[in-house]
Amino acid sequence: MRRVSLSVNGAPRELDLEPRELLVLRPARPSGADGATNVGCDNPRRAAPARSCSTARRSSRATVLGVQADGAEITTIEGLASNGELHPVQQAFHEQHALQCGYCTPGMVLATVSLLEENPSPSEEEVRRALEGNLCRCTGYQNIVKAVQAVGS
Ligand code: FES
Repeated sequence: MRRVSLSVNGAPRELDLEPRELLVLRPARPSGADGATNVGCDNPRRAAPARSCSTARRSSRATVLGVQADGAEITTIEGLASNGELHPVQQAFHEQHALQCGYCTPGMVLATVSLLEENPSPSEEEVRRALEGNLCRCTGYQNIVKAVQAVGS
């Protein structure tokens, strides 16, 4: 076991993790995250969305080892809304009908927030490229792209 210190949605946390354990923030963990986390492929080389940066902001899929997150500041989907108000990206996904079952939505929303921090006005091609590792089985992506561009400046 190795002690890992990190911040989840602004709250400091310490976890004892096996070095081979994926970073999966769930209620069973004392991390404070209660949203659904989709566990990525155990072999990140085979997982299409192996996009999680060390802060896990780009995807809700856990393809990062927990010990790699030592010292990281992590924002989960639960950390976006504030005072009962949806984050503008969440609101745009709602308004543009950019979700159906919602399985992919946390990853899409977090990837979008990250994209817009780096590029506030992405082209359609840039949006599609930024989100290409996040798979959606429902929407056909068109409304997701519309939502991203609706919130972009
Ligand atoms: S909304 Fe169902 S997988 Fe994307």
